[in-house]
Amino acid sequence: MAVPGNNYFQDFEITWGGGRGKILNNGELITLSLDKDSGSGFESKNEYLFGKIDMQIKLVPGNSAGTVTAYYLSSQGENHDEIDFEFLGNTTGEPYTVHTNLYTEGKGEREQQFHLWFDPTSDFHTFSILWNPQTIVFSVDNTPIREFKNMETKMVKFPKNQGMKLYSSIWNADQWATRGGLIKTDWTQAPFTATYTNFTANACTVGGGSSCASSADENRPWMSEILDPTAEEKLKWVQKNYMIYNYCTDAKRFPLGFPPECNAA
Ligand SMILES: *[C@@H]1O[C@H](CO)[C@@H](O)[C@H](O)[C@H]1NC(C)=O
Repeated sequence: MAVPGNNYFQDFEITWGGGRGKILNNGELITLSLDKDSGSGFESKNEYLFGKIDMQIKLVPGNSAGTVTAYYLSSQGENHDEIDFEFLGNTTGEPYTVHTNLYTEGKGEREQQFHLWFDPTSDFHTFSILWNPQTIVFSVDNTPIREFKNMETKMVKFPKNQGMKLYSSIWNADQWATRGGLIKTDWTQAPFTATYTNFTANACTVGGGSSCASSADENRPWMSEILDPTAEEKLKWVQKNYMIYNYCTDAKRFPLGFPPECNAA
């Protein structure tokens, strides 16, 4: 439960949106809104290099078709790394799509998409990223939905050298977001608002007080965390029942053969 006055967001700043993004209740909540003129976004002041990062998010309720809410870790520059959640809105009563991707040194094209086993607009749910030298795990309410293991021995690059900030933003993407662009944003429903609370980062920060070089491993169990058998089972359950797109099975996209991680995994 949120304790009033808990400043989860002291290390964040609203970076764009002309007042459409707000840090509220002494840092207990952030809201990001989108209307016809603009979306909005925030970012962390810290750059993280490995960590376990949790955020509770309540997505745009009602008719959110055409809107995209992105929530991701990213480094800077052409050869950037990125760990990406994007939430693609939908018409009332139709499921949201959770779109995930992963860039290593500038190379992405690793999309997996999911539906959820609950309505992400009626309450807060926890979206987590575990990132350590062994693995990257995307989770929803502690249920892993996607894992990208370190497969450097199979010549697959893994993000481990570049610090990443945490970003979120909401924008209009009705050219493609909902049913391939068929469904347009209904501006009579604006503003479209996503809400964030209970941010926690058990993480190493770049240049900050909690770099991994300065604290012992036993203080950061997430640095060696991997999925246990129960978590593996949950991951399989999600991938079997809720995954709606997997680049590793989309042969049309890769006529010259799948990327190496598809065969290694
Ligand atoms: C929206 O709902 C339709 C119909 O259930 C579904 O096929 C689609 O995946 C949903 N999400 C998006 C982003 O279109």
